[in-house]
Amino acid sequence: MTVKKAAVIGAGVMGSGIAAHLANAGIPVMLLDIVPDGAADRSTLARGAIQRMLKTDPAPFMSKKVARLVTPGNTEDDLQSLSDCDWIVEAVVEDPAVKADLYARLEPVIKPEAVVSSNTSTIPLSILTRGRSDAFKASFMVTHFFNPPRYMRLLEVVSAPETDAAKVAMIRDVGDRRLGKGVVTCKDTPGFIANRIGTFWIQVAINEAIDLGLTVEQADQIVGRPMGVPKTGVFGLVDLVGLDLMPKIAQSLLTTLPANDAYRAIYRVDPVIERLIADGYTGRKGKGGFYRLERSGPEKVKESVDLRTGEFSPSTKPRIEAVEATKATGLAGLVAHDSVEGQYAWRVLAQTLSYAAGLVPEISDTIHGVDEAMRLGYAWKWGPFELADMIGADTLAARLEAEGFAVPPLLELARAEGFYKTVDGILHALHPDGGYRPVPRAEGVLWLDDIKRTSKPLLKNGSACLWDLGDGVTGFEVTTKMNALDDQVMDLLGKSIALTGRDYKAMVLYSDGTNFSVGANLGLALFVINVALWDQVEQLVEGGQKAYQAMKYAPFPVVGAPAGLALGGGCEMLLHCDAVQAAGESYIGLVETGVGLVPGWGGCKEMLLRHMVNPKRPNGPMPPIQSVFETLGTAKVAKSAMEAQELGFLRPTDGITMNRDRVLADAKARALAMVQAGYTPPSPPEEIRLPGPTARTGMKIAVDQMALAGVATPHDRVVADALARVLSGGDTDITETLDEDAILALERAAFMEMVRHPATIARIEHMLETNKPLRN
Ligand code: NAI
Repeated sequence: MTVKKAAVIGAGVMGSGIAAHLANAGIPVMLLDIVPDGAADRSTLARGAIQRMLKTDPAPFMSKKVARLVTPGNTEDDLQSLSDCDWIVEAVVEDPAVKADLYARLEPVIKPEAVVSSNTSTIPLSILTRGRSDAFKASFMVTHFFNPPRYMRLLEVVSAPETDAAKVAMIRDVGDRRLGKGVVTCKDTPGFIANRIGTFWIQVAINEAIDLGLTVEQADQIVGRPMGVPKTGVFGLVDLVGLDLMPKIAQSLLTTLPANDAYRAIYRVDPVIERLIADGYTGRKGKGGFYRLERSGPEKVKESVDLRTGEFSPSTKPRIEAVEATKATGLAGLVAHDSVEGQYAWRVLAQTLSYAAGLVPEISDTIHGVDEAMRLGYAWKWGPFELADMIGADTLAARLEAEGFAVPPLLELARAEGFYKTVDGILHALHPDGGYRPVPRAEGVLWLDDIKRTSKPLLKNGSACLWDLGDGVTGFEVTTKMNALDDQVMDLLGKSIALTGRDYKAMVLYSDGTNFSVGANLGLALFVINVALWDQVEQLVEGGQKAYQAMKYAPFPVVGAPAGLALGGGCEMLLHCDAVQAAGESYIGLVETGVGLVPGWGGCKEMLLRHMVNPKRPNGPMPPIQSVFETLGTAKVAKSAMEAQELGFLRPTDGITMNRDRVLADAKARALAMVQAGYTPPSPPEEIRLPGPTARTGMKIAVDQMALAGVATPHDRVVADALARVLSGGDTDITETLDEDAILALERAAFMEMVRHPATIARIEHMLETNKPLRN
């Protein structure tokens, strides 16, 4: 059983996003909504939603091409065409009557094997299926996606005792492998897991900020980064979600939560916030919320609200001593810090963690299910039980006791050994019965962290590590900040290739972190540039080229396994792999020209080679060169692995793993399959023919025109010309043949010329300071 065709009913915020994501997974999907009164186009709502999504940023579609998989329709004319759908997701307004009416109409249409699921955030499943047949009940579940459905990784799945277990298993599998979600099983309780705890946390964080007289900036800085919460903190998050939505969520919880639920005691209506909403401060979708942008002359100034008066004034971000101190002392130090901010951290965490501890097993049978829901649904780095362990379960319980608060029974149980512990290299979690059980890893889920728990690196220096992934495969991991690349990385890569060649069968390039690599360490580069150590710069370029060439021609397969950013040198690393198994959410690009450089670690060479053999492109030497020139010259970054294939950063044969948790295992399996198939390294391209100066002139004219049109800046022209020289083959002509080393030498020469240019140095400095490109 699987899903070959799907439908989504309700083309609003969630429904259209879910339909797009089903299309991202390659599943054809019908998107239906109602027929508006008097509409000429009866499917206008769904059609309009698809059109809007093609323009939305961040994009719901992983490639514009997959939009074709979504067919718009309406619930009056097209319901019958759902009869061959395997999965029908209902995402209409949050109104039990509207949903019930729709299910009654769906019941006679759907095929017996089909699954119908609701995206409801608050309505209990038992209410939704009231009055439906047993067969419908067996086919029904809740699949709760988070907004936006492509990017938020959590999928909460709720089923009833009468739901067909095989159908639940099928949807879990589709959610996991094909949609790439972290699927968490929830009980049929209000708000399920993430919103139940999340709403409580938001309310507590707001209450305490008001009671302790903190500014929104202070509060956000404390509940943000130090607690592993996105830097929007709590007020920034509410701005994002919508201030007006909060009372609605609260009301719905208050009508369904158990009578003694702790949320009832902390729930408050704050007059200042009420007035903000009434005045139209609904958050980022409106004119602002707790923060707003005010135009002041040509500039926009960020302002924030005073929680006592409701007045706005320019936002200031104070340096908070408690937060600074935490860098050394950790979360335990923050909650113990003798300051109002330390007190704030304590009060927010004490209440939120106690609440979470009181909800197991009511909302989930496991603490790791709760932690995962908060990590994936609210983008917390650590779930509540992981946070409790960071403070220390006993420390937490003792202080609660000392301050006269109740200690939840589960926290009491955790006092001796914590919520999690490692036994024989395997992570165990505390269960409500007091025992510890291994945290299950689904088959095909592998983290480097799992390897690290049981082994030591084969090789290691200050910037990288080599691990034994088992079955004869090594794993090369960059360990610097944002996985930036430096000479140490290249050095260890060389050594890793030698060791793998001697004792192992294959190598995977991978790290657990958010990003594969942001490229060369610009800070380091700038340092060397500032002291004019040009030889050292050239050595760094040449060292990288050599390491990547050695990887390409190594006698064993090398598989790149990116997730997140793979930019500049990180992208070049992937270009030299025998195969890539990329997370769907990989953002790959050669961005060197943005900082006034040209790709110098073989990026120009590999992109040329790829485009020249692409049978889809027209003949002649110019089209492939022009295409590479355009992609590199404009520093294009693919916004998904699918787009990376379209731009040539990935090959059509490279794999895409939708679930981030499965990237490493998939990459390892791919490497082993290549070994099995009798891997032989590629042979160097025999003759590369490039047209030389005439082609360079052609590209120059194109850029000059862009400059005239005001699209290209003066330094863009200089950089584009250096890039054109490399891509056209320098002083060669079409009758001569070049080899890879010749193109690498051209890359090096162009790089060295650009890196000395004051306008390039200005770009690098600006990028380091502001994280934005300088358009000089
Ligand atoms: P929305 O208001 O953006 O969209 C609802 C859509 O349903 C509208 O396009 C409306 O025309 C359509 N609709 C209404 N009655 C219909 C009917 N009888 N047949 C077909 N279409 C009908 O709402 P949104 O935000 O997309 O929410 C949809 C569901 O997802 C709700 O159950 C909500 O609780 C849930 N949800 C919402 C989240 C969010 O962040 N907005 C997050 C997770 C779940």
